[in-house]
Amino acid sequence: MARFIDELKRTHYNNALRAGDVGKEVVLFGWVATYRDHGSLVFVDLRDREGITQIVFDPDLKGHGEAPKHAHDVSQALRTEWVVGVRGVVVSRGSNKNPKMPTGEIEVQVIEMTVFNKSDTTPFEILDVIDTAEEKRLQYRYLDLRRAPLQKTLRVRHRINQVVRRYFDSAGFLELETPVMVKYTPGGARNFLVPSRMHQGKFFALAESPQLFKQLYMVAGFDRYFQIVKCFRDEDLRVDRQPEFTQIDVEMSFVSQDDIFRTMEGMIFGVWKEVLGIDLKEKYPSGQFPEMPFAESMDKYGNDKPDMRFGLPHTDVTELVIAQEGGGISFWKEIADKFTSGRYRRDLPTEIVKTMRIPAGNAAKLSRAELDKLEDFVKGMGAKGLARAKVDATGAWTQSPLSKTITNELRTAINEKTGAKDGDLLFFQFGKESVVQTVMANLRVHLAKKLGLIPETGHGGKFEFLWVVNPPLFEYDDDKKTWAAAHHAFTRPHDGDVEKLETDPGKVLCHRYDLVLNGFEIGGGSIRLHDPLVQARVFRALGISDEDARAKFGFLLDALRFGAPPHGGIAVGMDRLAMLLSGAESLRDVIPYPKTQKGTDLMTDAPSKAGPEQLAELKIKTVE
Ligand code: AMO
Repeated sequence: MARFIDELKRTHYNNALRAGDVGKEVVLFGWVATYRDHGSLVFVDLRDREGITQIVFDPDLKGHGEAPKHAHDVSQALRTEWVVGVRGVVVSRGSNKNPKMPTGEIEVQVIEMTVFNKSDTTPFEILDVIDTAEEKRLQYRYLDLRRAPLQKTLRVRHRINQVVRRYFDSAGFLELETPVMVKYTPGGARNFLVPSRMHQGKFFALAESPQLFKQLYMVAGFDRYFQIVKCFRDEDLRVDRQPEFTQIDVEMSFVSQDDIFRTMEGMIFGVWKEVLGIDLKEKYPSGQFPEMPFAESMDKYGNDKPDMRFGLPHTDVTELVIAQEGGGISFWKEIADKFTSGRYRRDLPTEIVKTMRIPAGNAAKLSRAELDKLEDFVKGMGAKGLARAKVDATGAWTQSPLSKTITNELRTAINEKTGAKDGDLLFFQFGKESVVQTVMANLRVHLAKKLGLIPETGHGGKFEFLWVVNPPLFEYDDDKKTWAAAHHAFTRPHDGDVEKLETDPGKVLCHRYDLVLNGFEIGGGSIRLHDPLVQARVFRALGISDEDARAKFGFLLDALRFGAPPHGGIAVGMDRLAMLLSGAESLRDVIPYPKTQKGTDLMTDAPSKAGPEQLAELKIKTVE
């Protein structure tokens, strides 16, 4: 029988011992973090998941026979990351205390030791701060995860999981599972496909979310559902996107949008309190996050996930430009000409003119060279350029090609609408709405970082939550010249807008909402359409025939005809939540085993080729 583990059980983790423990005999297990051989004495920092304890090998330790000398002999061969167990006595460090370590008052004098396992030289050091390339860290993720910052991150995830489960359980929600292998349904995110061996030529899809199943739970009468669930989407990756990610998924029956908001706010308040020790009540005394209509968010910030930690709103000046027929600017006249009888011609994409004002104090921080670099930045996003103007004390525009031809009237109107004063800088974007909005939204955030209004990454101690509400039910697809569901086809329109489904579909607003934190969408959901009659009208507005609808969503349409209660829900991105609350730079920093930017797993080398036998069994041929 092995002495350590079988006989000698661990008495403490390596963060536990204090001055009050001096004189105790203890058993510690862990990894050799550092190793110093001072001739007669050998010092080792022993690390485990909780912390570090200094242990000392002294061959002359009295009262324990030959054991300490033997341990000292073995200790001279130790190297970093070897796994050892020691039995020893806690002693005071006297005047050599290390106030930086929780266990810095003491050390453990080793009586006996065992080496559980040796370690090869690790490809990088297991330190808090390393500058190793991310590829290497992901290839040896288990070593990366051994580092204290990642140990801390995963504990944060554990905490969030526990708080969320407790919260929903005590609020009467049932944690119910849904299938991962599901039927492929078109629309939404691209699915990963799973070939079926038993039904050759047929495929399952990996669920992009439990959406339809959680609705069916409502039809089944479960009333309140939640799940912490893996979702799969074959999308191009970004800092805030992974192909395999986790949602906190929620669905409720007999609720309004507000009821769902209150439920989710309670959860977020709980997480911030228990994980960060921050009471969000101080910032949001009502217990509620502010709401902003989708239209206002687009108008002021160019997207539906504005970062509210700073100002720099946009001003849409399209109406002024149209009213003044371009105001002397030829590009703007072209835009005005496309606008007839109160709306844009549907055969052309909507075009707009937007400006963003940088107040004088901040404008002065931007050198000419930096302003020119901004031009490159916007061109990278498909903009043709970045028009700008400096405003002087008389309201005149300088340093700007626009200033030569713009009419006094339009210039004055724009100054007034933007509130531009002496020394302010105005940036302009005009043209296709989607491009203008994206460019201006990204420019706003880019400038805020440049001007130090927000840090490059992380929350900077500020958490700004926002509900973005009441978006349109449909988006116009400029390419296909048709209306498309902006979210999914089962979102409930506002009751007052239902009559516009046939007459003016673009004006129909719906009960969809996003929860935004510091410029990231952390959650999204909707009140669902449970009324088959309105459902049929929505499909018609989308140009989906009854046949098509049946083929795509037959089982859900059936279910809605068997007494579906009014219901709605939301899903919060757990990884994004963890990233934002811990101030991490990317989702990869908060996911234990993430995929790279290219969607691969460097540690296991996935995806990999399937062998000819496997493919033959599935009746699949790959095309080189
Ligand atoms: P949605 O598609 O908005 O809604 O997703 C909900 C939340 O999940 C997170 N998220 C992601 N996180 C990491 N990587 C990704 N690729 C990724 N995609 C989404 C985001 C997002 O806000 N079934 C609906 C919810 C509902 O209507 O109830 C849904 O999935 O934080």
